[in-house]
Amino acid sequence: MLGRTLASTLSAAGHTVAVADLPEVDITRPETLSAAISGSRPDTLMHCAAMTKVDDCESNRDLAFLLNETGSRNVAVAARSAGARLIGISTDYVFDGKKSTPYLETDLTAPSTVYGMSKLAGERAIAEELPDQYTIVRIAWLYGQGGPSFVHTMLKLGADSQGEPLKVVDDQLGNPTSTLAVSRLLLWLLDHPVPGVLHGSCEGEASWYEFAGEIFRLRGLRRAIRPCRTEEFPRPALRPANSRLDKARLRSVGYIMPDWHRALEEFLSGKE
Ligand SMILES: NC(=O)c1ccc[n+]([C@@H]2O[C@H](COP(=O)([O-])OP(=O)(O)OC[C@H]3O[C@@H](n4cnc5c(N)ncnc54)[C@H](OP(=O)(O)O)[C@@H]3O)[C@@H](O)[C@H]2O)c1
Repeated sequence: MLGRTLASTLSAAGHTVAVADLPEVDITRPETLSAAISGSRPDTLMHCAAMTKVDDCESNRDLAFLLNETGSRNVAVAARSAGARLIGISTDYVFDGKKSTPYLETDLTAPSTVYGMSKLAGERAIAEELPDQYTIVRIAWLYGQGGPSFVHTMLKLGADSQGEPLKVVDDQLGNPTSTLAVSRLLLWLLDHPVPGVLHGSCEGEASWYEFAGEIFRLRGLRRAIRPCRTEEFPRPALRPANSRLDKARLRSVGYIMPDWHRALEEFLSGKE
């Protein structure tokens, strides 16, 4: 989902983009990475591939680590061999979600899911292989062209105006974030390298219930929604109560992410 918007954003800005994807390029098979990279000689690799289904990661631990840790290490090694910078994408799931305020890059990581553990292991693998040449951008609550995402699910469920009131979780907080907003940040990072870990979700915060309410309002959907608690939707992987990421570091280097309401409006008006 992110890779799709990113490729079009970079191309539209005049960059030469080579997209590497399955089945030709598999991040678990280093030889496929080196073949793709030697052909395109990139200045920067942007690594969006991952096992992203958090519940599946709980039941497929080995695969989650193979993709999110070993795969990320392979991409970092390939970037080093090519003399390229690497921008990797990570997640709020590296935290346990128990903090009462938004997470800073310097906060202690303590993932409570296999997805979070494997993504954190991937962050560390990148830092080990490419200590001076990487940026890891942590994002959260992502939606974008093609989905799948919470926005896509809500648009589908909301279209049924006769349906039962829809229960949406109101005790998890995060920063709804569009792939376009992240892609614009990654575009900016090409000319403004920021080393290390950087939080890059949209500004402003919401619960899933508030996020759903704004999607319905912007689209004029009339299905009723009701707030509910996390316990009413038990899932294999624990959902963090607090997914909010503090962007103070990003603001201090001169970049401000858009407010999530504006980004959502842009997405739903079809401008993305
Ligand atoms: N979605 C979110 O809410 C969210 C939140 C925070 C962070 N992130 C992070 O943001 C990044 C992009 O997420 P996304 O939502 O755009 O994910 P996505 O749509 O699931 O895209 C991940 C892509 O990786 C591909 N992939 C899987 N295994 C691969 C392999 N061995 N070699 C090469 N490609 C492989 C997948 O291909 P197939 O589809 O064919 O398997 C898929 O196209 C990820 O690092 C993710 O962890 C996402």
